[in-house]
Amino acid sequence: MKNLIYPGVCRLHDVYMTEAYAYLVMELVAGRELFELVKESQELSEARARNIFSQLVTAVQYLHSMGTIHNDLKLENVLINEDDDITLIDFGHASRIDNASFKPGIPTLEYVAPELLVFGEFTEKVCSLFSSLFTRTHLNILLFLQSDIWSLGIVLYIMVLGYFPFHGTDESIRKQIIESKPKFTRDKIGKDCRDLIKRMLCKDPKERITMEEVKNHPWFLQGLAHYTEPEAEQQQQQSE
Ligand SMILES: Nc1ncnc2c1ncn2[C@@H]1O[C@H](COP(=O)(O)OP(=O)(O)OP(=O)(O)O)[C@@H](O)[C@H]1O
Ligand SMILES: [Mg+2]
Repeated sequence: MKNLIYPGVCRLHDVYMTEAYAYLVMELVAGRELFELVKESQELSEARARNIFSQLVTAVQYLHSMGTIHNDLKLENVLINEDDDITLIDFGHASRIDNASFKPGIPTLEYVAPELLVFGEFTEKVCSLFSSLFTRTHLNILLFLQSDIWSLGIVLYIMVLGYFPFHGTDESIRKQIIESKPKFTRDKIGKDCRDLIKRMLCKDPKERITMEEVKNHPWFLQGLAHYTEPEAEQQQQQSE
């Protein structure tokens, strides 16, 4: 993970291992958890949420392009400063996409995709039966890249509505996730925003919107003229 260097992605400087512990030396990020901001504001305006969300999408797309799955995307793992610049933290559940032995846990139930709730021996068995057709890396790509998108959909939902889509007891949350029918009880978000969330919270990971499609969704594109991608910003700064 030391090779992950990108705006919006917390840097890992060093790792020290002992028999019992691994010590990670991370960049110190200024700001507070996005969770605190949403809790304090109740919900964010769509424009503000879009700015934060687009930074998140760019950061997660970078991770994916580097073959890394975050696997615990949630409001508590995003730090935000006073200018609304975000940094993604907590790689405690992250994995390389080509890690054939990666077994996802359920780091945070409220954010976990339905396919990960049923991941287990059965999925592994199907994969080994059809190993001539697809490898475990293919399965990782299908399951885990798309499950990061699901979690980002939950993040977006909470930002614009101010509450969790699936809540209650653990058993009830599991049921609601498997059903994958988020309710929009308060009618305060626009239809484009609602459509994007629904596509991100699509039960079937094959049908679920991809990262590239998220970036081309009408809601994402609205107001993007005011937003500069970190990469472009970096190049601009270098040429100045
Ligand atoms: N690099 C950082 N700079 C500043 N604050 C940080 C940084 N990393 C973590 N924190 C703070 O510490 C909190 C906990 O960190 P982190 O999310 O990495 O651990 P965790 O959630 O306890 O771990 P896990 O979910 O893997 O059990 C964060 O929510 C954040 O407030
Ligand atoms: Mg955390």
